Amino acid sequence: MKITPVSYAAAAKVKNIFIPLFKNESPAGDPLFMRLAPPVRKAVLKFAREEFRGDEGETKSVWLAGGAVRRVILFGLGEKTKWNARKAILIPRRFVRAAKAGRIGEYAASFDGDPAMFAHSSLMAQFEYNHYKAKPKEGWPEVKEIMLAVDDEKRADAARTVAEGIAIGEEVNTARELANTPGSDMTPSHLAKAAQSAARRTGLRATILDEKNLLRLGMGGVLGVARGSNEKPRFIILEYLKGPKDQKPLVLVGKGVTFDTGGINLKPEQYMYEMHMDMSGGAAVIHGMAAIARLKLAVNVVGLVPAVENMPSGSSYRPGDQLKSLSGKTIEVLNTDAEGRVILADALTYALRYKPGLIADFATLTGAAHVALGNYCSALFTNRDALTEKLVAAGTASGDYVWPLPLWDEYLHEIKGMFGDIANMAKNDRYGGAIHGAKFLEQFVEDAPFVHVDIAPRMTAVDSDLLSRGATGVGVRYITELARIYPRIETGDKRQETRRSKNE
Ligand code: BES
Ligand code: ZN
Ligand code: ZN
Repeated sequence: MKITPVSYAAAAKVKNIFIPLFKNESPAGDPLFMRLAPPVRKAVLKFAREEFRGDEGETKSVWLAGGAVRRVILFGLGEKTKWNARKAILIPRRFVRAAKAGRIGEYAASFDGDPAMFAHSSLMAQFEYNHYKAKPKEGWPEVKEIMLAVDDEKRADAARTVAEGIAIGEEVNTARELANTPGSDMTPSHLAKAAQSAARRTGLRATILDEKNLLRLGMGGVLGVARGSNEKPRFIILEYLKGPKDQKPLVLVGKGVTFDTGGINLKPEQYMYEMHMDMSGGAAVIHGMAAIARLKLAVNVVGLVPAVENMPSGSSYRPGDQLKSLSGKTIEVLNTDAEGRVILADALTYALRYKPGLIADFATLTGAAHVALGNYCSALFTNRDALTEKLVAAGTASGDYVWPLPLWDEYLHEIKGMFGDIANMAKNDRYGGAIHGAKFLEQFVEDAPFVHVDIAPRMTAVDSDLLSRGATGVGVRYITELARIYPRIETGDKRQETRRSKNE
C-alpha cells in the first residue's frame, strides 16, 4: 500500500473522495470538499442535507456522473463533543474497510490528524492473514494507494511522518503474521529464525541461545517448561545500542510460548484454541525493536524473548516440581499452565545483566487480565508509581491502550511457595490472577525499574477494532512509543516508597 501526501487541489481530482463528518457538520467546513468542482460540491451538499446524519459509523456514497470525481463517500463521526483520540484511530480503518468492500483501489482522503497514525492505522486495516486460503479469482481486495490531502506547506513534513507510520504499521503487521502462524509452523526455532531475519533486515544485533547454552547458564525456568515438548527451547537476544553511552538500556522482554496447551494441567478445548498466539509478546518485542531501528531512535534497547512450547508428555514438568531459576530462587510449580511467568522469570533475571534503566515485559500472561479489563486495553503494572501516568499516556498516544492495576505487597503472601521460594500461582485465592502473575514477575527484577504489560486482553482482535480476525500485533506500537519517551523517563531512581519516611 502506498500512502502519498498530496495537495488539496491534487486530491480533489481523484476518482474516489473520502470525507469524515461530525453529526450536523456541513461538508463546507472540510478543506478537501471545498476544492471539489462546484457541481460535485452542490450534489454532495444536497445529499448531506437530505440523506446523511453524521451518526457514528454511518457510511454513505454519493455517486456522480461525468467529471473526474466519480464518488464521494461520507463517514459519520457522531457527536463532536464525544470525540476522542481512540475514535480517531478508527477513521483510517473505516476508510480502508469501505475501500475494500467497494473494491476501490485508490482514494483521496481528508483527515485532520497525525499522518503517522493515519499511515499505521491504514496499514493495519489492510492486513489479512490468508496464507492458508485459496486466492479468489479476482484476487484479494487491496488498497493500492491512498492520497492523503494536506496543506501545501505541510507536505514535506507529512511525507516524513507518513514514512514513520508506514514503518510502524509494517512491523505491527509482521508481528501479526508471526502470531497468526499455526503452532505447527511457529516453533521456538522458527521464532528465533524470524527474529534473526528481522534483525538482518533492520540492523539489530541478534544472538540465539540454544538448549546447551541455557543449561550452562542455569535457566531452569525456561528448560523446565520446555521439557515436555519435542521442540527445543531458544532464548532470543536482540540489541540496538544507538543511544548515548551513559544511557542505561531499556530492556524489553517478550513471552514466547509458541503453543500453550497448558501442559499436564491441560487446557479445556475452548481455551486452547488460540494458544498459537501465546508468543504475541515475543513478536511484539522483535518487531517493536525492528520499528525502533527503522525510525533510527537514539536509544539503547535490548530485547529478550524466551521461546518454548508448553506440551504434556512423559517428560513434562509437573505440578509440585521445583525449578531452579536463573536467579537462584526455586519456583514451585502449582500449575503447569502458568508457564509464561516461569520462563519470564529467567529472562527478567538475565535482563539485570544489562543494568537496565527500565525493564518492560509484554506477555499474554493471564486470562484474569482479560476478565478484569475487558477487550480494549492491556493491564499495566509498575514498581515505580511515578511512571504510571506517562506509561498510560504512551498507550493512548500509540493506540495500544493500557490501564493500571496494583502491584502492592498485600498480594505477595498469596504466591509464597510452600516448599519452594515462590509459587507460580496463588494456591488459595481465585481472585486477582493478573496481579499474582505480575507480583510473581516482580520478584525477579530486584530493584530495577520495572513495567509489566499483560497483553492477554488484546491478543486477538474484536469486531470494533476494525481489523481482520486474529492477532492484533499488540505491543509493537507501545514499544515504539516507549522507546521515544524513554530518554525522558530513564531515571534510575530508587523505589519511591523506600525514599519516603516510614510514617508517611
Ligand atoms: N497463555 C495463558 C493466558 C491467556 C489466556 C492468554 C487466554 C490469552 C488468552 C497463560 O499461560 C495461562 O494459561 N494462564 C493461566 C494462569 C493460571 C493457571 C494461574 C490463566 O490465566 O488461567
Ligand atoms: Zn498457560
Ligand atoms: Zn501461556
